[in-house]
Amino acid sequence: MEITKTLGEFIIEKQSEYPDATGELSSIFASIRLASKLVHREINKAGLADITGGVGSENIQGEQQQKLDVYANERFKTALAARGVVCGLASEEEDSYVHFDDGLNLNGKYVVLIDPVDGSSNIDVNVSVGTIFSVYRRLSPIGGPVTEEDFLQPGNAQVAAGYVIYGSSTMLVYSTGNGVHGFTYDPSLGIFCLSHPDMTYPEDGVIYSVNEGNYVHFHDGVKQYIKYCQVEDQRTNRPYTSRYIGSLVSDFHRNLIKGGIFLYPSSSLHPSGKLRLLYECNPMAFLAEQAGGKAIAGVSERVLDINPTELHQRVPFFVGSVNMVNKLERFLREFS
Ligand code: AHG
Ligand code: MN
Ligand code: MN
Repeated sequence: MEITKTLGEFIIEKQSEYPDATGELSSIFASIRLASKLVHREINKAGLADITGGVGSENIQGEQQQKLDVYANERFKTALAARGVVCGLASEEEDSYVHFDDGLNLNGKYVVLIDPVDGSSNIDVNVSVGTIFSVYRRLSPIGGPVTEEDFLQPGNAQVAAGYVIYGSSTMLVYSTGNGVHGFTYDPSLGIFCLSHPDMTYPEDGVIYSVNEGNYVHFHDGVKQYIKYCQVEDQRTNRPYTSRYIGSLVSDFHRNLIKGGIFLYPSSSLHPSGKLRLLYECNPMAFLAEQAGGKAIAGVSERVLDINPTELHQRVPFFVGSVNMVNKLERFLREFS
């Protein structure tokens, strides 16, 4: 690949468009970039090195932790604590939020929330996984300890969000509120290169992504929408194509590029949905909206406007091409 622009160059160029920028956000990206390279390296050795399988413990949400969950969590935590700009982190793999309250980070203005490995059940079978991150300005006074309310902010307060997808190639996709940009990792050079500037969600699509094994447990609105996706109709290009990887990052990334909708509804199996508001839904909703897509948790319920009440809170999640999400919303309104 011919190098157009590296991630580092791109960030510095963008920063110069903001006269008040201090470089702190760039510093956070440098940490994320470094940790994701380490995770990339580890994932590419899965099967050879001893990093597949579980560690035999559960995280606070009762899920089996994979070795890579623990490895990635440590790498991101260490990288983010090393630069003095982040005062704390909340992670899917931590019971509570982590203070970075040494001398270096006490004056940090930002907190980071992270799903270190998304789709971790796919690691052992060589299927794409990801990392999801989200950055907020702290609310507590600078110089004091980080508090829970620093993390319980609505998604519309995000300063930046993004994901890394460890797929057929590794990519970093992010937004700071001015569009969505994608960078592909060149492992021979060890750099991320701008490959997908200004990513936009197609307004329509023909892909629907949902764990249909849970069908009988869904509410009527979701069931009826899935039936609608399956109906034969040449005018609207149906039946749609069903694609479900089981890694949110990978399903989202495909739908962002091709046009589609992702659904993780609440059901009798998952009364509040399964995906986590702070580590998964908010960052993806931020990216979706920045790319011209839409993300809701229910009828007229914009994900980014939800006021979180707890760190590991789960919500129903519907995200994708705007016309498809609007259509789904009509079904939810009519049938649920
Ligand atoms: P994680 O590996 O971080 O726990 O996330 C798994 C999530 C998400 O990536 C995916 O969309 C969903 O769980 C899949 O759930 P099902 O297996 O219930 O379909
Ligand atoms: Mn996840
Ligand atoms: Mn995870």
